[in-house]
Amino acid sequence: MDRREFLKVSGMGAITLFLSGCGLSGLTGNSKNKTTEVPAKGSVSGGKNMKIVVITSSPHPKNESTSIYLADRFTEGAKSAGHEVFTFDAANEDTHPCRGCDKCGMDGPCVFKDAIENKLMPKMLEADLLVLTTPLYYYGMSAQLKIIVDRFYSRTEKLHRKKSIIMATAYNSADWTMEALSNHYDTLVRYMEWTDVGQVWATGCGARSLVERSEFADMAYKIGANL
Ligand SMILES: Cc1cc2nc3c(=O)[nH]c(=O)nc-3n(C[C@H](O)[C@H](O)[C@H](O)COP(=O)(O)O)c2cc1C
Repeated sequence: MDRREFLKVSGMGAITLFLSGCGLSGLTGNSKNKTTEVPAKGSVSGGKNMKIVVITSSPHPKNESTSIYLADRFTEGAKSAGHEVFTFDAANEDTHPCRGCDKCGMDGPCVFKDAIENKLMPKMLEADLLVLTTPLYYYGMSAQLKIIVDRFYSRTEKLHRKKSIIMATAYNSADWTMEALSNHYDTLVRYMEWTDVGQVWATGCGARSLVERSEFADMAYKIGANL
């Protein structure tokens, strides 16, 4: 099923969304859509070089993905400001969903010795800032990203009190497009006692060309560059 079909099968209401989801509102701006101010330069890091983990979660090829494009723009900005960035491709690495066995006791190694445990977790544990990026899938995060989030369980306390950013792309541009994901993110931030330092809600960005010429590309870069 291609991206247009996703909207067609959603019924009559989707026709409106389909028409409005062609990036027009992304170009003209939609005051009801959620956005975040770019923090003032240095206000987040206090001038320190931070360790940043960026998690991408789109199965699209890197050069076609809209959410990976935002992740790359952010990374460019963050590196220009002297920060260290580690990127984890949740869609293509060897990952397994938490099976709830509780062998970790929420504070120990996971039974899965996969890329999450061996490559990502050590980087997340030492990171100052975690950046979650996702395409919007049925109004939530992608399954690829949710697998990572659920695996926080094995080190839940040790992952508390970090800084966080979320960046999501979606085809639709209605003002409620990102509502459920935004609420989930807010709840995650609250539970993990994270400090949210940036949000990019790229509605009307169902194709690479749309996100590339949208305001969101610049926003992602600036959030990184201003850390
Ligand atoms: C399985 C699936 C579910 C989707 N669900 C939504 C949705 O709920 N709302 C929406 O606006 N777009 C939805 N889309 C469209 C994508 O969010 C959109 O095309 C996005 O730009 C893809 O990002 P990517 O290229 O980084 O993967 C969906 C696409 C797929 C494949």
